[in-house]
Amino acid sequence: MSGDGSQPGPHWDARLYDDRHGFVWQHGAALIGLLAPKRGDNVLDLGCGTGHLTARIAAAASTVLGIDSSPEMIAAARTAHPGLRFEVADARALAFTGEFDAVFSNAVLHWIGDADAVVRGVARALKRGGRFVAEFGGDGNVRAITTALRAGLEAVGRKPVESPWYFPTIAEYAEVLGRGGLEVRVVVLFDRPTPLEGGENGLRDWVRMFGGHFLAQLPDERRDEYLAWVEDALRPVLFRDGGWVADYRRLRVVAVRPGGVV
Ligand code: BEZ
Repeated sequence: MSGDGSQPGPHWDARLYDDRHGFVWQHGAALIGLLAPKRGDNVLDLGCGTGHLTARIAAAASTVLGIDSSPEMIAAARTAHPGLRFEVADARALAFTGEFDAVFSNAVLHWIGDADAVVRGVARALKRGGRFVAEFGGDGNVRAITTALRAGLEAVGRKPVESPWYFPTIAEYAEVLGRGGLEVRVVVLFDRPTPLEGGENGLRDWVRMFGGHFLAQLPDERRDEYLAWVEDALRPVLFRDGGWVADYRRLRVVAVRPGGVV
């Protein structure tokens, strides 16, 4: 999971990420079915975080490299999976040429505004006929949460900063893929309401993990007041049966580098 490096955060706490936000990689397990890794495949896991999905891919593929822009995440991935290869790398500046049968990415690309640079690098990294399988937040993702985070800043007397995330429409992302040299096979957008871990604290834990851009507008001593405001605003829409359910919408993508043998 990588930030795009053009703004102050995020600085990932790998242990908190695994302890309280395991749903991020657990949902990604379904995407591995679409990747369908097999013996002989050399796979790049782009934004591997703590490496859980990299390990699942490695169980079926011949070789896997996990990359992430966060040194903390890569350190945790190496500790958890000592037999696998992990490297710190910027997804906007991939330095691979024609090496991979597949590039996989789960819940990462919404952190990177320069989608064209990422897709160009993915296309270059793939062998001819190689596939790009990815899922991330699409148009409308966390709309209620973002609206409340911005309104909450105003409510406590701050300017409502813009969202730091990239949530493209189907049409926008299909264009990015085509411009980058990939042939689009599938681009779908679907709602996936996502239960957060932590019961009553689930939303504030999520904001503390992922919403640093908003929290950074406030001194430490004002943050609890702000988080309470956000919870009050969202409770009628996102709190069900004792827990928070984030209004996730996923964009799921399969694209291919042209020129493979049919
Ligand atoms: C997501 O997975 O949709 C997401 C995660 C963190 C921040 C924004 C969106």
